[in-house]
Amino acid sequence: MASESASSGVAAYYDKAAAKVPQFTVLNYGFSSEPEDSCVPAGHAEFYCLRLYEHTVRDVNLAGKDVLEVSCGRGGGASFLFRTFAPRSYVGIDVSRENIRMARQRCDGPQFQIGDAEALEFEPQRFDVVINIEASHLYEDRRAFFAEAFRVLKPGGHFCYTDGYWADDDCSEELRAAGFLLEERLEITSNVIRSLELDNERKENLFDTLGDAELVREYKDWGGIVGFRAWRRFVEGKTRYFSHRLKRP
Ligand SMILES: C[S@@+](CC[C@H](N)C(=O)[O-])C[C@H]1O[C@@H](n2cnc3c(N)ncnc32)[C@H](O)[C@@H]1O
Repeated sequence: MASESASSGVAAYYDKAAAKVPQFTVLNYGFSSEPEDSCVPAGHAEFYCLRLYEHTVRDVNLAGKDVLEVSCGRGGGASFLFRTFAPRSYVGIDVSRENIRMARQRCDGPQFQIGDAEALEFEPQRFDVVINIEASHLYEDRRAFFAEAFRVLKPGGHFCYTDGYWADDDCSEELRAAGFLLEERLEITSNVIRSLELDNERKENLFDTLGDAELVREYKDWGGIVGFRAWRRFVEGKTRYFSHRLKRP
């Protein structure tokens, strides 16, 4: 289980971001694959971030299913998947109280609650699908999360899992050790870099309105702005982005 201080530090970071940049409903680096063959409405302000959601659940049928999203952030992705793929139920959990408050305020359909990825408060075999997007790098112990994702999935259920990793970090063995069958592991770093480039203006303009130079710099590093830290790490090959489709046998 995450130590109190580790998860409360992350929660505090995202609670503050919710106050500073409330405009975002989706908080990931996005996905682009041109020409964009997508059911995200063209021209949607958060098109590329929602494309990452669409990509992550590809080939997994959500219709009529019970879905859990772990680390749902502000709920924009949950709302998109709920409206587009008609699951029977959709629960989003996140450790940030402010993210959950915003998700409840803005997004109809899914149910949102505060929770810790490493200690899920659900009975075993409750869900058909577990989704996790760009969050596991923040966890104290991602193996504890993998074990929890496995526990709450029904046999035959799918775990749709996407994140960025240090270049030499391959989580495949940890996923197998948790009991999962790794059906597909796809490197999507170039799709993420392209998304960062295509979505750069929207995010950079927003950060530039913040005034406080130190915070602007921090958010540009964190937010994948072209020329800044997260973007540089991808371009220089120090970090890589992968999507996974896993099955509980
Ligand atoms: C980069 S954001 C991605 C959010 C969302 N998946 C999206 O794409 O918009 C990472 C999220 O992970 C959440 N998070 C970090 N550690 C967590 C934990 N231990 N349990 C649950 N959520 C956590 C943060 O609060 C934040 O909302």
